[in-house]
Amino acid sequence: MATAADFKSNPDTDFAPVDKLDDAKAEQQIEALRDAIDYHDHRYYVENDPVISDGAYDQLLWRLEELEEAFPQFDDPASPTKRVGAAPASELPRVDHLAPMLSLKAVEDAEGFEDFDDFVRRNLDGDEPVYVVEPKFDGFSVEVVYRNGVYERAATRGDGYVGEDITRNLRTIRSVPMRLQNRSNAPELMAVRGEVFMPRDAFRQMNKRRTERGEDTFANPRNAAAGTMRQLDPTVVEKRPLDIFFFELMYINGGPEFGGHIEVMEAFDHWGLKTNFFEKTCTDVDAIEELYDGLIADREQLNYEIDGMVVKLESFEQRQRLGKRQRSPRWAVAWKFPPRKEVTRLQEIAVQVGRTGKLTPVALLEPVEVGGVTVSRASLHNEGDVRQKGLRPGDMVRVARAGDVIPHVVERVERPDDSTAEEFSMPEHCPVCGTEIVTVGAYHLCPAGPSCPAQLKGKIYHYGSRAALDIEGLGEKTVETLVERQLVKDIADLYHLTILHLMPLERFAEKSAQNLIDEIQDTCEPRLDKFIYALGIHHVGERVAMIIARELGGLEAVMDADAEQLQQIDEIGPEIAESVASFFADDKNRRTIEGLKKAGVEVQPMETEDTGGELEDKTFVFTGALENYTRKEAGEQVQLRGGRVTSSVSGNTDYLVAGNNAGSKLDQARDRGVEILDEHAFEALLKAEG
Ligand code: IVH
Repeated sequence: MATAADFKSNPDTDFAPVDKLDDAKAEQQIEALRDAIDYHDHRYYVENDPVISDGAYDQLLWRLEELEEAFPQFDDPASPTKRVGAAPASELPRVDHLAPMLSLKAVEDAEGFEDFDDFVRRNLDGDEPVYVVEPKFDGFSVEVVYRNGVYERAATRGDGYVGEDITRNLRTIRSVPMRLQNRSNAPELMAVRGEVFMPRDAFRQMNKRRTERGEDTFANPRNAAAGTMRQLDPTVVEKRPLDIFFFELMYINGGPEFGGHIEVMEAFDHWGLKTNFFEKTCTDVDAIEELYDGLIADREQLNYEIDGMVVKLESFEQRQRLGKRQRSPRWAVAWKFPPRKEVTRLQEIAVQVGRTGKLTPVALLEPVEVGGVTVSRASLHNEGDVRQKGLRPGDMVRVARAGDVIPHVVERVERPDDSTAEEFSMPEHCPVCGTEIVTVGAYHLCPAGPSCPAQLKGKIYHYGSRAALDIEGLGEKTVETLVERQLVKDIADLYHLTILHLMPLERFAEKSAQNLIDEIQDTCEPRLDKFIYALGIHHVGERVAMIIARELGGLEAVMDADAEQLQQIDEIGPEIAESVASFFADDKNRRTIEGLKKAGVEVQPMETEDTGGELEDKTFVFTGALENYTRKEAGEQVQLRGGRVTSSVSGNTDYLVAGNNAGSKLDQARDRGVEILDEHAFEALLKAEG
């Protein structure tokens, strides 16, 4: 009978029919295949050094699939066949981390780093610190848990204590071992931390394909990795080219003991967890500064994004002596890279009209590569920004890309001697629809609303965007066509689109047309907060939408709330309150909502089932300082469980959470007989309620 070793090199893939195997033989072959496939995944995805052909690998995997189907009694969630094909989830459940996931304090320059070094030396009472250095990977931080060497679970960072369960998503990443290599000395339980990222070449290819299909592109590899990890459908994740580096041991029980970071990294290598670190240690600041310069110089050659260098104490004993702050260790620092900058010519200052009608100047640039990305547009915040920087068409300007996304113009470098360009000023008429521009404070606005095609396009696109109702396939190009062909004159028109409308359009065939229609119809029962956000109200981001939704519960209540009432809600200030109230007071917007209802959209009241929340309808007031949470974090924890947070104690208050130096609210609560919780009791309540 073949063993795993037989499948590890030059495997014989001439298998006997499965019905010729008895249970014992089948089990033995299944185990041998799993082991061998794990090994080949490791050689291919971690070591970058495969030892068999893709064809032979596929044969092994097919055989394993065939056996598992014929002998379901030997099913195992850690089988390599489980990496693909999982069904979508309706939400990502929340999980407690085995140890808090801290973040790193950041410094910007050599001086900042030297301050860190001084601080470390002072705290080590004259002992020499020994440092290790790693790239700071610019991806998505995850916790991965192994029990007895077998993959058990993965989670996002979340608030550092509680994250979202992404076990199924992470399973699709082939460089994440389902079973550790050499697991004879694997710990009983271990949590490791790593960074999921999308390799730069894979990112470019993926975006290219998305553009061809008229789908939204991702702004950068980090967003692509983060967006993918939080997907509900693992079959989407498995198609995205993701990879991982592991860099910290967060928790260990019943395994080897480690004296320092390098030992841990070596153990990770031994177990097949992909690492990426400088093997040497450093004791002086100069050596580290040299490594930093070297890393910046190498940066563009790497096939993954890094945004700085992490310097950590190597010895765990020294780490222990330094200890940690509330959210970050004292024994490590992130030394960030400066933003990437290049000089190019400013060809023109165009004016863009956003979905709220706001006019923004945009720099159209002679294309230039800034840190591996070609930049031809850059944001200029407003008229004042352009004037203050003294920018005119034809000027040479410096453009920066701060770690990521939207590049901006930093400054003017020089102006050609023969320049005749005039100082910039905002147009008096909307560059898209010609309506006369009005100014509100520092803003220039086109008052035409959705009858201005630019605003309509922006609104429709926002409505379908990922954070709003997430209509896959409603990309910018598609929206543009739908608006230009006048197939969509209002958001509600989306729901009246049929195959016959879409098929004649470029880039649509029967299947893609049907897909888009299905996607749109799938949004007929949006959750209240998503819907409010999707309407694109000025000043209402995802968080504000959630707060309003949690507080008011239903669409009618939101529509009927006046500014005064909205302002009563904790964290809603006068500007937001005014913006929301006037949005819903506007007839045009009311008609849109009417239209959506007629088209079959039924906005779901905010139900706490969504989160399994048992604090439903419980009203909390916070006073004083909590040790483990900011006010905002504590409030979010309550809201996530279906409760509300208000700012003042009233007859409706269920709990007053009193931190240190609690103020007069504590007395008010006592007077009214409101239940008072200290931080400890509050945490216990959160724990009990999910
Ligand atoms: S160590 C307890 N090392 O950078 C400290 N973090 O706030 C654990 N990151 O999102 C972090 N590369 O996930 C460490 N080589 C590296 C890293 C790294 C990237 C991320 C980390 C976190 C952020 C720091």
